[in-house]
Amino acid sequence: MRKKIIVGNWKMNFKTSEAVEFLNSIKDDINTDKVNVAFCPSYVALRDISEVLKNNKIGVGAQNVYFEPSGTYTGEISIGMLKEFNVEYVIVGHSERRTFFNETDEAVNKKVKVLLDENIIPIVCVGENLEERQKNIHKEKIEMQVTKALEDVSLDLVKNIVIAYEPLWAINSGNTEPATSEQAEEMCAFIRLVLKKILGDKLAEKVRIQYGGSAGGKNAKELLEKPNIDGLLVGTASMKPDFVNIVNAALIF
Ligand code: PGA
Repeated sequence: MRKKIIVGNWKMNFKTSEAVEFLNSIKDDINTDKVNVAFCPSYVALRDISEVLKNNKIGVGAQNVYFEPSGTYTGEISIGMLKEFNVEYVIVGHSERRTFFNETDEAVNKKVKVLLDENIIPIVCVGENLEERQKNIHKEKIEMQVTKALEDVSLDLVKNIVIAYEPLWAINSGNTEPATSEQAEEMCAFIRLVLKKILGDKLAEKVRIQYGGSAGGKNAKELLEKPNIDGLLVGTASMKPDFVNIVNAALIF
């Protein structure tokens, strides 16, 4: 049985003071008994957020990392720097990073490998855009992204990876409609098939696959009921009290 995992991605929202205030207002209502829950604040809020969550089972994640351990990389942040703040998860290859900051599959793969080596869970985002779906090449795209992300990854560690299926056309709740639970399950099941090809059946069954894209309290339960959807990566709704409803929806499994 794969443990459900609900992760909030705050993107470039919330100043540190706002993030702390929000988290303090909901953290006691978040039940982590049977579910992994984490928030990914901006880098500059990590220290304060990890302090707020010090004696709490809610985890801390980062939205990005650089794959080199140190050196002349102005503006970048290393895994060692993140570890100082108890970071347990790092989002890798989010579509916004791929689109606006040219994050490549090669960079995603390098990040995945060093994160696993350092015992941090990479949340690897994959997803097609609207045009790719309309042209019916979305499965090819996802297969390529997953395959490249996992290239030469240690088989001993790979079960720790989380894959997040996030179709670009569904991201940014309020402006877009989520994928239906059937569409989301179809693609998460497809990702599981791709994983089976790469890793074999046994390991592929251990890897958790999230859905992301306008997920919220309203659709969380029907998404999480699907056999291949093991969690949600949540943007907009993770900055609202509705996040508690999402976690509650995961508790019943
Ligand atoms: P959204 O964002 O929930 O606002 O659609 C999800 C994401 O980008 O991870």
